[in-house]
Amino acid sequence: MKILLLGSRGQVGQELLLTLPTLGTVTAWSRDELDLAQLDTIETKVIAQQPDVIVNAAAYTAVDKAEQEPELAHTINGEAPGKLAQAAAACGATLIHISTDYVFDGQQNQPYRPDSPTQPLGVYGQSKLAGELAVKAACDRHVILRTAWVYGAKGQGNFVKTMLRLGAERDTLKVVYDQVGTPTWSYDIAQAIAQLIPHLTPETFGTYHFTNSGAVSWYDFAIAIFEEAAALGYPLALKTVLPITTDQYPLPAQRPAYSVMGSEKLDALLNQTPPHWRVSLRKMLPELLSAQSQS
Ligand SMILES: NC(=O)c1ccc[n+]([C@@H]2O[C@H](COP(=O)([O-])OP(=O)(O)OC[C@H]3O[C@@H](n4cnc5c(N)ncnc54)[C@H](OP(=O)(O)O)[C@@H]3O)[C@@H](O)[C@H]2O)c1
Repeated sequence: MKILLLGSRGQVGQELLLTLPTLGTVTAWSRDELDLAQLDTIETKVIAQQPDVIVNAAAYTAVDKAEQEPELAHTINGEAPGKLAQAAAACGATLIHISTDYVFDGQQNQPYRPDSPTQPLGVYGQSKLAGELAVKAACDRHVILRTAWVYGAKGQGNFVKTMLRLGAERDTLKVVYDQVGTPTWSYDIAQAIAQLIPHLTPETFGTYHFTNSGAVSWYDFAIAIFEEAAALGYPLALKTVLPITTDQYPLPAQRPAYSVMGSEKLDALLNQTPPHWRVSLRKMLPELLSAQSQS
């Protein structure tokens, strides 16, 4: 099987780079090999590879910056996936495209299903929803995998890395408690994608949710990060973590207050349930702390 991986330098992409080779020959592209903002180049370059499966882990992920760069976000997240889907259709490949919980407005009080109504609150979510629609329109052979609150040891910044840095520098932190979701380890996403690929058939194409299990506020997630890091001997200056509301910490992009997603559809296909978010956090931290101590 020939697999083309896009976004190989990202949090999820780096994990996929380690996981996908068990399934076939992987060609891994970062922005250097294919810039998704260059829409005209996408189809030719992808078709030339004649992949069986394309995994798109590349995206414009700067949620707040997207409010100032809506056109670029829409090009990369909204239009480029459509070009990838056209290329997939042209060479009979299946496209696995990663999307986000931010396609939802957060007004539900029970987990979102893959067919729950979408209503993004900001430019990033709108651009990702446009990408989903473009994929669906251009290629039947697709899987859209929505995930959420991604963190990991690899790649650029994420909430866990930010909390650890601030926790080492400050004695007091304020973290919002009125946004609830499910932190998800990039390694677990890569594992789920690798497990999904052998199940790809016309009956299984469609939209899925994958997150770790459980639900937590950013505040309680921060507390868990500090507890787990302290147990591993991480040097915290932190004495107090204060819960605050979203209104007390205004950001350019509005976030859904509740973005828990049910993964039952994928669980049934893979015959397993995802690890609990705290179990995955505990497993991830030694890798992150070890990487930090070596840098
Ligand atoms: N992070 C989250 O909390 C979160 C939550 C829900 C869903 N998701 C989705 O999960 C997927 C993976 O996210 P992630 O957390 O791994 O993101 P990430 O760490 O920000 O990685 C995204 C990758 O996309 C690449 N990229 C950006 N613009 C590009 C362009 N014009 N051309 C080619 N590549 C480009 C980046 O390349 P450079 O390294 O060169 O910048 C980066 O390596 C994305 O679809 C994202 O929307 C993420």
